[in-house]
Order: sequence, then structure tokens, then C-alpha cells
Amino acid sequence: MNVLGIETSCDETAAAVLQDGIVKSNIISSQLVHQKYGGVVPELASRAHQRLIVPVVEEALHIAGIKKEQLESVAVTYGPGLVGALLVGLNFAKALAYGLKIPFIGVNHMEAHLYSNFIDEPKPNFPLLCLIVSGGHTQLVLVRQFFHHQLLGETLDDAAGEAFDKVAKMLGLGFPGGPIIDKLAKQGNPDFVKFPRSFLDEDSFDFSFSGIKTSVLYWLRGHKILPADSQQITINHELLTNLCASFQAAVVDVLIEKIMRALRKFEVKDVAVAGGVSANSELRRRTQELAQRQGFKLHIPKFEYCTDNGAMIAMVGWLKLKGGIRSDFGLNAVANLSL
Ligand code: KG4
Ligand code: ZN
Repeated sequence: MNVLGIETSCDETAAAVLQDGIVKSNIISSQLVHQKYGGVVPELASRAHQRLIVPVVEEALHIAGIKKEQLESVAVTYGPGLVGALLVGLNFAKALAYGLKIPFIGVNHMEAHLYSNFIDEPKPNFPLLCLIVSGGHTQLVLVRQFFHHQLLGETLDDAAGEAFDKVAKMLGLGFPGGPIIDKLAKQGNPDFVKFPRSFLDEDSFDFSFSGIKTSVLYWLRGHKILPADSQQITINHELLTNLCASFQAAVVDVLIEKIMRALRKFEVKDVAVAGGVSANSELRRRTQELAQRQGFKLHIPKFEYCTDNGAMIAMVGWLKLKGGIRSDFGLNAVANLSL
């Protein structure tokens, strides 16, 4: 069974071919056009997807060594995401599936992040606790069986990845900020500044990251590193690495605490982390340490499956197809689709 997975929800144009659940190709074209704006510009994202969708899909078929006529299904993200960006992939996928007379499957992007943990071996066992940390979402989910999700908590304001991107922008770093902060933090002291950790109520599984972000801003202003009337930052390398390490430690502390709370309350077999921020080396280190201490099996996708990709979309498509689920061609893009 050859499934093509297409992803265009944000700034990555991605396509992958899955053959009987095995990844045969995974092509990701990251749109560099957004870098100079320090964030994703929706209209530019849609235009870039339009330009890239055909070559990216052709490359995915070529690398997998198949022709489009050998496809047996097309899976595509229909939300959540930027509506104009989603529509490019969705309409392309519908047209391709319709023309080839094969099933078309709409995929929830957050589900795809969750099931990116099922791409490689060993597969997670249920009940599974999954922390999904991306640029747009931060969610803690209990999965009792395939596609039976209980949302335990989510962010009340900024997503974890969004906080990384905003703090990176304040520090005069590029976009996306997560990987840059991660790299600089390796050389810094995480105890340099004790930024506040927002754990919320004792029994809350929700998250809040806007306070940490504001604390970084006030610290920079208070130390005259970022003047109140300017975006122009003056900072030396050592201080930069210390601030990156301190900010990252605050975010990771909160994520770890929420996993520990859920483990105290719910009986789970395995724990998984997914989404762009799951590429973060400190989060990976701390969750691995926790797994060893508490004796659970931890799953984190390979780097190429952490950030947006087509393989995770094809994986959900394949799982749904096996379960006899397919979508109607009338399916529309849903910008705020929930899990
Ligand atoms: O899942 P993703 O590719 O897109 C969304 O669905 O949002 O996540 C992108 C987010 C960005 O905010 C980016 O800064 C963050 O993931 N990210 C990281 C790292 N790599 C990507 N954050 C922290 N550390 C990283 N190594
Ligand atoms: Zn994503």
C-alpha cells in the first residue's frame, strides 16, 4: 500500500511516500522567505507552497521509486494551520486523488505530530502520555488506543515553540529561534537568571509561557541591554549564551513538571514527546533522565520527524486507511481544528 502524505499547514512544503507503513521518501522544503520578517508571513507562505508543491511531490515520488499511478491513497493536512497555506495542499491532494480515483484522507496536523512516534520501531504502547510541543501548540494528551485522545491540558497563551521564537527575536537571533537558542544554550549557564516557572494550579495540566517571555524582556530592559524605545540589542556572546540557557531551562522545567503530574494521576505504559520543540536537546536529555528515574519507556521521533514533515501525515493516513476511514471530497480547511 503506497500512501502519499502532503503537509502545507505553515512554512514547510513537505511530501512523503509510505509503503506499508515504511517511509520510502520524506522531502521537506523550508521556506526561507520568512527569515527576514522574524516570523511566518501567511500570504508569502501560500505563494511559496503553490510554487513548491509540484516539485516537492515529484521529488517524493522519485526518491520512493514509484510513479503517481502506483499511489493507493493521498493523505493531507486540513488543519490546524494558516488557512491559505492549508488550502494549497488540500486542493492539490484532492485533485490528485480524484484524478487517480483513489481514497483521499484529511489529517489533523496535531494527530500527525502525535503519531510521528509510530513511524519507527519500537512503536509506543497504550495507554500513552504524549506531550506535543510545536510552534503553534503545546498539548498534553492521554491516548488510550488509536485515535482515542483525551486532552489533559494545553497552553493558555503562547505555545512553547512560539516562546522560543519570540525570545530569539528579542535577543536579535534569527527565525525560527528554537534551534538557535538550543545551540547557544549549550555554552551557557542555566542558573544565570532564575526566570519564573509558571506551573499554574497544583492540579493543572495547562501551560503558560507568556510570563517567561515577558520576564526575559524586562530583564533585558532592566539591564539596559534592550532600550525601551528600540529593538536594537547590544549583548556579548557570554551573556547571550547564559540568557539562552536560563530561558530554555525555565521552559523545560515546566514541560517536565507537567509530565510528572500526569504520571502521578494516570496509569500510563509509555510516554512520547512530539512536535518541533521535541528536537530540543535539553528537553530530550531531561525526558530521558526522567524515563530512567521513573522506569517508563520514552519515545521521541528522529529529528526529521520532529518538525513539520510529510511522513507523519502519511502515517496517520495509513493508520486511518487500515481502520477503514477515508474523507469526503467536500472536506474544507479548518484553521483552528482541535485534537
Ligand atoms: O512542529 P513545528 O515544525 O511546526 C508547528 O507545527 O508549529 O514546530 C516549529 C517550532 C518552532 O517554534 C521552532 O522554533 C521550534 O519548533 N523548534 C525548536 C527546536 N527546533 C524547532 N525549539 C526548541 N529547540 C529546538 N531544537
Ligand atoms: Zn507542526
